[in-house]
Amino acid sequence: MKKTLVIGSRGMLGQEILKIFPNAVGWDRGEINIVNETQVNDKLKNLQPDIIINCAAYNAVDACENEAGFALAKKINGEALGYLADACLELKATLVHYSTNYVFNGEREQGYAEDAESKPISKYGESKLLGEQEILRRSNLKYYLIRTSKLFGQKGKSEMAKENFFDAMINLSRKQGEIRVVDDELSNFTYAPDLARATQSLMAENYSYGIYHITNENPCTWHQAARVLFDITGKKIKLIPVTANTFPRPAKRPQYGILLNTKLPKLRGYEEALSNYLKV
Ligand SMILES: NC(=O)c1ccc[n+]([C@@H]2O[C@H](COP(=O)([O-])OP(=O)(O)OC[C@H]3O[C@@H](n4cnc5c(N)ncnc54)[C@H](OP(=O)(O)O)[C@@H]3O)[C@@H](O)[C@H]2O)c1
Repeated sequence: MKKTLVIGSRGMLGQEILKIFPNAVGWDRGEINIVNETQVNDKLKNLQPDIIINCAAYNAVDACENEAGFALAKKINGEALGYLADACLELKATLVHYSTNYVFNGEREQGYAEDAESKPISKYGESKLLGEQEILRRSNLKYYLIRTSKLFGQKGKSEMAKENFFDAMINLSRKQGEIRVVDDELSNFTYAPDLARATQSLMAENYSYGIYHITNENPCTWHQAARVLFDITGKKIKLIPVTANTFPRPAKRPQYGILLNTKLPKLRGYEEALSNYLKV
């Protein structure tokens, strides 16, 4: 049996990947710091995995806009991928890595296919693109580079774990009778357990190495998604659509961040996945 290592195993996605690969070894920051090249080499040489699934990342999108945040993001989301990729080449292992729709500028209303040109408009997007480039420039590497967007699922276990959009809406609805929600940014939600299963299928079905886009179907705005949420829960709440510039944030977000999946079977719509999530 192939030996699988999941890095970032306490994060939102990592914990779901571990459920799908119950025999995998799970490491988080306590076991490996992926920005430490010597540690990466030593630990991986010792473990000898056949597959490395990297779910570790620095995802504080707005914090990346300041100098210290961007420096950290470039290390974790960028340079570290070079260390992991080199170790995979050495071990003849396969690298699975996740990137984001934030590598695109969001001007293309129809969305972005896997081979579309990347042009990030935020420092976070730049840092994730650096990681992609570290992978793509190693020609003999066996890799699956999976772009995804707007993850939701059980909160990660680390102290810095963020609550997902739907939990944030539910919490707000306990405090106020009306909520203003952004209605001019369009992209796809992705249920972390669905992404974990799709990652497993990609390998089990021997898809060729390369770039893949995996999200739930049915792109929507934040406002539309909040409407779906409260229709499912039956909670009466007034949702007021607003433009993104109502809530000025340090980092720009792509206006149309739809990831087009032209290579794989489509996942279910996010509405059904959300119903499942609310029952968990
Ligand atoms: N969340 C989204 O909406 C979203 C959207 C698009 C793409 N993605 C991508 O999907 C992947 C999974 O995201 P996620 O939301 O599951 O992430 P997450 O919940 O933030 O988990 C990331 C994990 O990585 C660990 N980590 C951070 N720096 C590390 C380091 N230097 N060495 C080892 N471990 C480290 C974190 O530990 P600490 O907490 O201790 O730092 C955390 O447990 C990432 O590649 C992300 O960029 C996410």
